[in-house]
Amino acid sequence: MSDNTTADLTGRTIAITGSTDGLGRALALRLAAAGAQVIVHGRDERRAGEVAESILAAGGPAPQIVLADLSQLAQVDRLADEIATRVTRLDVLVNNAGIGFGRPDAPRLFSSDGFELRWAVNHLAPYRLTRRLLPLPQASAPARVVNVASAGQQEIDFDDLSFDHDYDGVSAYRRSKLAQIMSTFELAADLTGAGVTVNALHPATFMDTTMVAETGAAPQSTVAEGVEATLRVIADPALAQVTGHYFHGLTPGQPHPQALNPAARRRLRELTDTALSTKV
Ligand SMILES: NC(=O)c1ccc[n+]([C@@H]2O[C@H](COP(=O)([O-])OP(=O)(O)OC[C@H]3O[C@@H](n4cnc5c(N)ncnc54)[C@H](OP(=O)(O)O)[C@@H]3O)[C@@H](O)[C@H]2O)c1
Repeated sequence: MSDNTTADLTGRTIAITGSTDGLGRALALRLAAAGAQVIVHGRDERRAGEVAESILAAGGPAPQIVLADLSQLAQVDRLADEIATRVTRLDVLVNNAGIGFGRPDAPRLFSSDGFELRWAVNHLAPYRLTRRLLPLPQASAPARVVNVASAGQQEIDFDDLSFDHDYDGVSAYRRSKLAQIMSTFELAADLTGAGVTVNALHPATFMDTTMVAETGAAPQSTVAEGVEATLRVIADPALAQVTGHYFHGLTPGQPHPQALNPAARRRLRELTDTALSTKV
């Protein structure tokens, strides 16, 4: 990506979930430096406030701070409603917040709503947030939804979404990330002609972030590489009409075959909608 793609984002409003650490934090600083009004999302007021202060100290536009624990669907709903009352436009929603593999041998965890935790935070939360917020980007068209997924994908077992059998954190993460990509393709199709593009990407492999450190694995790439790839999907004019795509870094990516199976995508959508309909 040439730096021209983010040369001037003045007047654009961009929400980034999980902007208190790693890729999201670096993106928030970079987008604000390019003139965007950033909506800093965090689950911790102090950490979100520090990011906002860094943006202001660097001379960026005053950011908005919104707080929500994305493992709780009631907070996801409140987050969407709060963003809609705080800003009059939303040019880009970046669904970046996520939980990684966890520590090796960590036990299966559940959200307070009763869903397997990685499924809840990495798939259900962005699915719900995006749909609830959608009128705002639609009213701001042309707009973009950017889902930060991963190259680490694993086939979803629709008969065991709670991961009752053979749980491990790596597989749970990979299933949730595949679900994110499948949902990207579905929403992009729904929004054909609506002026809102929806794309997913793998930002970079084993960046030097908290979730990678937690696994004990050695970093293989920098956050700056992930920022560059994500910025391209957020702001590159050349991608203005591109929707329903999965990128691997700066190049077109090949998702897991399940993502290319329309019946599997429909099944995921039905199961997701049913699960979410029990939590209104
Ligand atoms: N790191 C990699 O190599 C890599 C590779 C492929 C894809 N990705 C994807 O890139 C995205 C960012 O990852 P990262 O490496 O930057 O991770 P990170 O440094 O661990 O940051 C994760 C962010 O998500 C937030 N978050 C986690 N659980 C949350 C919850 N329940 N509610 C609200 N916010 C929550 C964290 O908030 P706190 O600051 O409060 O913890 C933090 O802001 C993720 O979607 C990840 O799957 C990363």
